[in-house]
Formats: sequence, C-alpha cells, structure tokens
Amino acid sequence: MTRKLEPGKLVIASHNEGKVREISALLGPYGMAPVSAGSLGLPEPEETGTTFAQNAALKALASATASGLPALADDSGLDVAALGGRPGVYTADWAERQWFEGEPGRDWYMAMGKVEGLLCAQGPQVDRSAAFVCTLCLAWPDGETVLFEGRVAGSLVWPPRGAQGFGYDPVFLPIGATQTFGEMSIEAKQAVSHRARAFEQLVTALF
Ligand code: IMP
Repeated sequence: MTRKLEPGKLVIASHNEGKVREISALLGPYGMAPVSAGSLGLPEPEETGTTFAQNAALKALASATASGLPALADDSGLDVAALGGRPGVYTADWAERQWFEGEPGRDWYMAMGKVEGLLCAQGPQVDRSAAFVCTLCLAWPDGETVLFEGRVAGSLVWPPRGAQGFGYDPVFLPIGATQTFGEMSIEAKQAVSHRARAFEQLVTALF
C-alpha cells in the first residue's frame, strides 16, 4: 500500500512561479500547507535526467533531504509530434537566454517562436498536434519516492494568444477547446491540464 501524506507542510520543489501557483491551488482542499523551495532558499538542482521521471525525482529528493519535509516536484514539457517529441525534457531550455538584459533569463516568446519556426520549415501541411506532459514526484526525507503522470493532447496555434498562465500556454489549444491555455482562467485550465491529471492520481494514492 502506498504511504499516505499527513496534513502539514509540503515543499513545492520548484522555482517556477507558474508551477508553484498551480500546484498550491490544486493542494488547497487537502489540508496541506505548501511552501515553495524558493521561499525556503533551497538550492535548485541541475536537471541532468533524460526523462521527466528522472528530473522530477531528483528535484523532489533534493528538496526533501535539504528541508526534512516531504517535497513535491513537477517535471513537465511539451511533446510536439512533428518534432519527434521535442522539446520534451528540454522545454524550459529552449527558452534559455544566456544574457538577457545582463542576467541569465528565459524568453518564452523566443521558445514558442523556435517551435513554430521548426514546424513551418516542414511546410504548410505539417501536423500541428502536441501534448503537454507532467510527471509529479513526491519524495519523503528518508528517500522514498512515488511518481504520477498526466498528459493533455492538443494542437499548436500561431500567433500566441492570451496572457494567462505561463511558459508555452499561449500557443497550446487543448482538443475540443476554443481558447488556448493562455486565454483560459486557472480554473478552466485545471479542468483539463496535464498537471491536474497527474494530480488526480496523486490525490487518489496519497490522501
Ligand atoms: P521543467 O519541468 O522545470 O523542466 O520545465 C518545464 C517547462 O515546460 C516549463 O518551464 C514550461 O515552459 C513548460 N510547461 C510545463 N507545463 C506547462 C504548462 O502548464 N503551461 C505552459 N508551459 C508549461
């Protein structure tokens, strides 16, 4: 039987404000007190894994062992069919700008443009289908881990639409929707998102 998560402090092992916001909202009803790794000053480990599961586990374990609290990490990304699953685990890296106004930073418009450029290079009939994938890992301070995965299928639009959400949200149109993730409220996104689907499994197993 899977170990249960007792009500109390839970570290969100992420320095990505968009993810922290969405995960905190999902945890709201379960009596957990989420604190972000950033607010505790925990270091951000290098994501050296080649799968979502490996990266989620290394982030969750780093926060759980450094804080002495259970920690929840999310590793997620965009899987574009016509690009053979890229950017995949490198989704955040595609936005990396080494020197953006003097600081290292991420430029999401540049990253979305890179995906679009590669699709356009394949011609006007290119398959624009894509999926967001999310792997959640819960780690306890003693090193035990458990993983959950969620996926949402959709297609990529251009130009980007909407200023809600984060990352690649403005170009992702989930199947059956008329609004991109960037145009939806957080509640509408949570009804279908990869993160919410992974979270449903976590809730069933851990609460
Ligand atoms: P990582 O999991 O920290 O490696 O980063 C995954 C990257 O995937 C994020 O920085 C976002 O760019 C992208 N991503 C993951 N989930 C979402 C989402 O719900 N909306 C938009 N972009 C996302």
